[in-house]
Amino acid sequence: MKLIQIVGARPQFIKYLPVYKALQGKKVKNILIHTGQHYDINMSDIFFKELGIPEPEYHLGVGSGMQGAQTAKMIEKIEEVLIKEKPDATIIYGDTNSTLAGAIASSKLHIPVFHIEAGLRSYNKNMPEEINRVLADHISTILFCPTKTAIKNLKKEGFKNILHKGELLPLDYGEKIKADISEPVVINVGDVMFDIIKMVRPIAEKSDILKRLKIKQKTYAVMTLHRAENVDNIDRLKKLIKFIETVEVKKIIFPVHPRTKKTLKTIALPENIITIEPLGYLDMVKLTAESRLVLTDSGGLQKEAYWLEVPCVTLREETEWLETVELGWNVLYKDYKGIENFSKKEGTPFGDGRAGERIARVIAYEN
Ligand code: UD1
Repeated sequence: MKLIQIVGARPQFIKYLPVYKALQGKKVKNILIHTGQHYDINMSDIFFKELGIPEPEYHLGVGSGMQGAQTAKMIEKIEEVLIKEKPDATIIYGDTNSTLAGAIASSKLHIPVFHIEAGLRSYNKNMPEEINRVLADHISTILFCPTKTAIKNLKKEGFKNILHKGELLPLDYGEKIKADISEPVVINVGDVMFDIIKMVRPIAEKSDILKRLKIKQKTYAVMTLHRAENVDNIDRLKKLIKFIETVEVKKIIFPVHPRTKKTLKTIALPENIITIEPLGYLDMVKLTAESRLVLTDSGGLQKEAYWLEVPCVTLREETEWLETVELGWNVLYKDYKGIENFSKKEGTPFGDGRAGERIARVIAYEN
């Protein structure tokens, strides 16, 4: 079997790792396309190096641009590769413009699309990510969901073929799955990010990021902000900063995404917010694990905070990761009542950290 996998933005390099690893040893020729959506060394190369991911077979070098132009360039270049390689299926991840471009290019060539992290919804169509998710899901043939909430969302949108009643797929599931674009299959495999945090945590322990930043554990908060709806609008950003000033943890470490850097040039941040360059994954995991609080608009970091047992405040009006809120470990900033008001409930809404294995078994099923 020949598979093309498509990545392009920072979180996708991370999500790719467990799937790539689980596919090793299977009868699969795996070809990786990097669209070039993220291209700075510490937004891209560092992840490949640190996580030991082999160089992509194709680097499309698309780079930045308006939503339409960036996506269009990707579609055109992905299509060329697909025509040349003639894969049996394409794998896409998450909700970025690279995800949508991969889904469109493949489905129009009648190549089955497997979407990893399918079914998430914020129900806020002003987010480019929400448009990408909805469209990608509806032209996919296998939808690998991370949670039961994702399954529920897809049911509401008319998906009928839900494997194993939407419960986590047994690891030894023993049937070849038949799916095509008019009869897509929805499967709960758990969250690939849970796999990766388990893999990386012991290695990240060795990071000396606290020493480099001259900070002590549990004395600081970590903040990230990059969503277009937050950082492309100065008034919105100012509103969030006003909120952040009310948070009890005074020292805030803020690795700044390139998109955010542009807007920050036009406003002054309070002195207790310490801006640094974007970090590699190992440093980021260590910095988060040792922090007192996470403040973020990232989806991945909301869950990482949960797994690393650090309370999280989401700097958005809504979240796709309702489970972390229901488990008492994440609040939307408008609901924040103080750092002492978190109490973490036990639960396993994200599966068991073996999502990659399930995905590989389904894709490359052998008797
Ligand atoms: C993208 C995804 C978002 C994901 C995020 C992770 C979309 C619509 N959004 O947002 O879902 O959570 O990645 O980081 O796909 N830039 C650089 N260097 C880089 C990459 C980007 O300077 O290596 C700058 C560019 O000038 C660009 C801006 O950052 O204008 C935004 O990049 P873009 O790829 O459009 O989306 P992100 O905001 O990163």
